[in-house]
Amino acid sequence: MLVFPMTNSKALGAKIAEAAGCKAMSIESERFPDGELHLRFMDEVNGRDVVLVQSMHPNPNDALLEMVLAGMTAKELGARNVTGIAPYLAYMRQDKRFHAGECVSNRVVAHMLSQSVDRIVTVDPHLHRVRSLAELFHIGHRKVSANNAIADYISLRFSAHDSVIAGPDIESSQWARSIAEKIGFGSAIFLKERFGSRHVKIRVTEELEWKGRNAVIIDDIISSGHTMIEAVKEIRKRKPKAVHCICVHGIFAEGAYEKLKKAGAKSIVSTNSIAHRSNAIDISGTIAKEL
Ligand code: R5P
Repeated sequence: MLVFPMTNSKALGAKIAEAAGCKAMSIESERFPDGELHLRFMDEVNGRDVVLVQSMHPNPNDALLEMVLAGMTAKELGARNVTGIAPYLAYMRQDKRFHAGECVSNRVVAHMLSQSVDRIVTVDPHLHRVRSLAELFHIGHRKVSANNAIADYISLRFSAHDSVIAGPDIESSQWARSIAEKIGFGSAIFLKERFGSRHVKIRVTEELEWKGRNAVIIDDIISSGHTMIEAVKEIRKRKPKAVHCICVHGIFAEGAYEKLKKAGAKSIVSTNSIAHRSNAIDISGTIAKEL
């Protein structure tokens, strides 16, 4: 098995290779003067099981095309089997035609990837109206959960007697509530109304004993940061000791990390599905188990 860490996942890809007991191989990705991508496998792939590791942030469009080009090339060069690991799988949130004429991107992206690799592995993909990867992919697929890694992180640093867990919206329950139940913490799930990509309103529909305690908010994605910011503001009105934010995929678009700090988050932590300075939870071992 040959593991190729790609542009967005050099460090994570190398860790996955190590955890899977194989060497990280090399794929060169450069640009022609006109901006087109030029890819080259620097190691022989003929007859081998090839694993491509590419998170789809930053530059989701380039990252996706790189995966498509690499997957198809590996097959053409005689790879026995090609697995695409997309720790963060972009485009999953456009899962419906919200307005007439819109592209339902999750289906198109899944179709492109299905043509390019034999199997897709991803971490906590954003599945909302589409409930499972099977509805999107007609190739092998595997959804890996970061919940155990996040639960370990929390239980090493917080204790159930002075800390509680919150989820900012109903969908976050699959992380926030599941993790809270796993480690015996109290939890509350809020209600979110979205008015636009940068405008959300959070309603605290379940109260807990917040005063003087640590509140740990868990969500799958921090993108513009507005979901977390509004949740932090609501909890801070209730005088907790501190508010901490944890996400699986830290996109942190448009200065979201700094905005969230300014809103009063004492710590902001993500898994290394997307490389970012907030990475404190390593999921390479969890992913390597799927290989
Ligand atoms: C959406 O429902 C997701 O679970 C996240 O809550 C959302 O993607 C966060 O986005 P933002 O940081 O832009 O509010």
